[in-house]
Formats: sequence, C-alpha cells, structure tokens
Amino acid sequence: MRVQFPTTRPRRLRASKIIRDAVAETQIDAGDFIYPLFVKPGGEREPIGPMPGIYRWPVGRELINHVEEALSLGINKFILFGVLPDELKNPEGTGGYDPEGVVPRAIRLIKEIFGDRVLVFADVCLCEYTDHGHCGVVKEKRDRWYVDNDETIKLYAKEAVVYAEAGADFVAPSGMMDGQVREIRRALDAHGFEEVGIMAYSAKYASAFYGPFRVAAASAPKFGDRRTYQMDPRNAYEALKEVAMDLEEGADIVMVKPALAYLDVIRLVKQHFPWVPLAAYNVSGEYSLVKAAATAGYVDERTITLEILTAIKRAGADLILTYHALEAAKWIKEGLPF
Ligand code: PBG
Repeated sequence: MRVQFPTTRPRRLRASKIIRDAVAETQIDAGDFIYPLFVKPGGEREPIGPMPGIYRWPVGRELINHVEEALSLGINKFILFGVLPDELKNPEGTGGYDPEGVVPRAIRLIKEIFGDRVLVFADVCLCEYTDHGHCGVVKEKRDRWYVDNDETIKLYAKEAVVYAEAGADFVAPSGMMDGQVREIRRALDAHGFEEVGIMAYSAKYASAFYGPFRVAAASAPKFGDRRTYQMDPRNAYEALKEVAMDLEEGADIVMVKPALAYLDVIRLVKQHFPWVPLAAYNVSGEYSLVKAAATAGYVDERTITLEILTAIKRAGADLILTYHALEAAKWIKEGLPF
C-alpha cells in the first residue's frame, strides 16, 4: 500500500470559517468584560486625550445613558475610578473615603437605576485622591520619602467600607500595599458586608503602560515612582507569591496587570491556581497604542483588538478589564474576523 504523506493535515481544520469556529479553543464575548468608568463630581463629560472614545463622566444622566448603552451590548460589569480636581486633593487622600465622594455617589446612582442587572466593582486606591499622587500616605525617614504601608491599608479599609455602604458588589484594591486584602476583608466583615467580594490586583507591575490612565485620572506621582510598591517587570514567579498571599488574605478574584506584556504571568497564575477566577487588565497604554496605530492606518483596529482580547483569554484570563469593551462587543456581534 502506498504511504500517504503528510499523514496528518492540520490544514483540514482551517479550511473554512465553519470548521475554524467549530474547533476554536477560545471564545470571547461581552460577558467576559469589565468596563472601566472614570467618574468626576460634576461639570461636563470630558474626553481623555490619549484615550480616544473614553470620557470622564460627571455623576448624572450621561453616565447612566452610557451604562445603558453598555448593557444593551451585553456588558454588565463595571469598575469605577474617581477623578478629582486638584483643589479637592490632599496628602491623606480623604476624597477616597468620603461617603459623599464621587465614587460612592456614582455607585449609588448606578445601583439605584440598574440594581442587580449590573455588577459594580470599585477600585480601592488613593493615588486619584492624594495631592502627591502616590497610592498611600507618604512619610519621610532618613531623608527619604516612603509610602507608609500599615497606615495606608487602614485608609483602604475605610475606603472599601464606604464603597460597600454605597452598594458596590466588589471592591478592588490596586495599591499593592502588603496586607491590604486582609485589612479590607476584616473591615468589610466587621461592618456586616461579608457578601461584598474582593477582586485583588494581586500581580500589578510598575508599568509604563499606565501612562494614559494617569492622564485620565490625573494620578501621576508628583515625585519618584511606584517601584517601591508595584512589582518589578522582570519577575514572573513572584506573581505566584502575591496571588497566594492575597488568596490567603481573602481575595475572591485575583488579577494580573497589565495584560498584553504579561501573558506569561496570566498563564502561570492560571496553571497554579486553576480554581481561582482570574482577571487581567488590558490597561490604558495597551488601548492607546492600538488607537494611535489604528488612527495612523498602520493596523486594523477591529481585528487587532479582537486578537488581543482573545489572546488574553487564551492565556488564562476569565475576566478582562478593557476600555475596548463596547467596541469589542459590537465587533463580536458583527462576526469574528478569525
Ligand atoms: C490606581 C490604578 C492605576 C491603574 C488602575 N488603578 C494606575 C497606577 O497604578 O498608576 C491603571 C489602569 C490603566 O492603566 O488602565 N492605583
């Protein structure tokens, strides 16, 4: 008998869209997305220069319409970030744990209108509210500034309780302070919010990919950088330590951030903790790079965005925080480009 060659022909499974769809290992849909919303106390909706299509929303009607639009596309998970004018910032970031602050007001409004149709996550950090732009209380010792870990996590706990009282379903500590998850869990429980979950930014790297976010939230540090608290981009296995600690401290969902340059970390975390829901943050710089290249005509935005989001999911993410959520949901409805 004649020996057939090649004996295996992988191309058979790529021959048409129907067969490719039938054997595709990874699916993305709008239900995977958590859409970040920047909220501000009042005034007009403001576009964010480096993030075309993304706005700072005053707490009010327009914000509600935008949430409604997202919902109509199947996006029902949102994470809120507060943006304050400079005159409302101070060294302790009190705007972050003011019950009448911008994020609690936004949570109450969204929950009042949409109730259980939406899941509201609230980012817990202080860099949006401190005048120096660091993620906690800054002190000095031996002529060097530092962020006081233990004092800062007490403020995070206060902030988390304020967000829980306002109706947040999940709080999401992003400051990379040691023990922040335990401090928050204890405070939530002590205030009777044992049902409120914690999505921990467990492996959050000190990344240049946050540049556009810091413009959006006016949260860039005024001096120094965040390398004494956020992770070193050279480390992957250290992410397992951070995740293990956060789980032990009470995290319900863990996160890797950024996503695209850290797909190896996403995979590593998923393989070591397959039972833990894993989120990945497709951060501002990833969004801006795609927008800029697409505007210049260098890449096709639709295809490249769906490829990126699919890659993040394929690496092991269950949930993806992405500014592309609305557009991606529309594009997915129109049909995948694969
Ligand atoms: C706040 C926070 C940051 C991001 C999310 N939460 C910025 C930072 O650490 O400077 C970045 C998100 C993005 O770039 O899209 N601590």
